[in-house]
Amino acid sequence: MPLIQCEQLGKSYHEGGGELRVLHDINLQVEQGERLAIIGASGSGKSTLLNLLGGLDEPSAGRVLINGEDFSHMNEVARCRIRNRQLGFIYQFHHLLPEFSALENVAMPLLIDGQSAEQAAAAAEQALAEMGLSQRLRHKPGELSGGERQRAAIARALIHKPQCILADEPTGNLDRKNAQQVINIIAELNSTHNTALVIVTHDMHIAEKMDRILELEDGELKLAD
Ligand SMILES: Nc1ncnc2c1ncn2[C@@H]1O[C@H](COP(=O)(O)OP(=O)(O)OP(=O)(O)O)[C@@H](O)[C@H]1O
Ligand SMILES: [Mg+2]
Repeated sequence: MPLIQCEQLGKSYHEGGGELRVLHDINLQVEQGERLAIIGASGSGKSTLLNLLGGLDEPSAGRVLINGEDFSHMNEVARCRIRNRQLGFIYQFHHLLPEFSALENVAMPLLIDGQSAEQAAAAAEQALAEMGLSQRLRHKPGELSGGERQRAAIARALIHKPQCILADEPTGNLDRKNAQQVINIIAELNSTHNTALVIVTHDMHIAEKMDRILELEDGELKLAD
């Protein structure tokens, strides 16, 4: 059974009486442990697709199955549970909670999942250390640099060792050294825990390290040449 399956997935926006069709009849399977890159021009619908895969947005047509379960049409509580346990998001723009410290932000998914505060804090401290942020545990997002925020958001996405990481330009705001570090950590999760990767990227060096490269064009997903 594929980890993620999209069936005839479509997404349109309705604005000012017109219809903007962003995605059209997308059929996609992501297997356990598979590494997939999605490329495409700005505005081609990459973030839209990733949001649908992660259940952050509702499709206009078709559905997304996660481990065979209809993710697109389940209730919000069930969807949140799957999202929290099985998926890790790395967004184009970080979504750390501004009033919490880096440590608290990274510990959050484990606390939501019922782990004790001590366990969650210890795991969060280690995840932040792996991102080179040992000296920034008590900083709030507003007190971190852009790259540090991005790395904290990545630590949070990886903390519960999800089955699949959905990443939208994970290295877009990072310098070469930090970008390489992030890619290494994601690749290591893939090889040690068989974590599937779906990475939206403009960086062909990253895309070429994946098993498959798919390109979004005119609302359709094709094997890139
Ligand atoms: N909520 C919305 N309402 C209306 N149109 C939207 C909405 N969200 C996105 N769009 C439009 O859908 C199209 C696809 O947007 P999307 O963010 O998926 O592109 P993208 O491929 O991720 O681009 P980029 O590489 O610039 O991040 C764009 O033309 C955008 O303007
Ligand atoms: Mg985008």
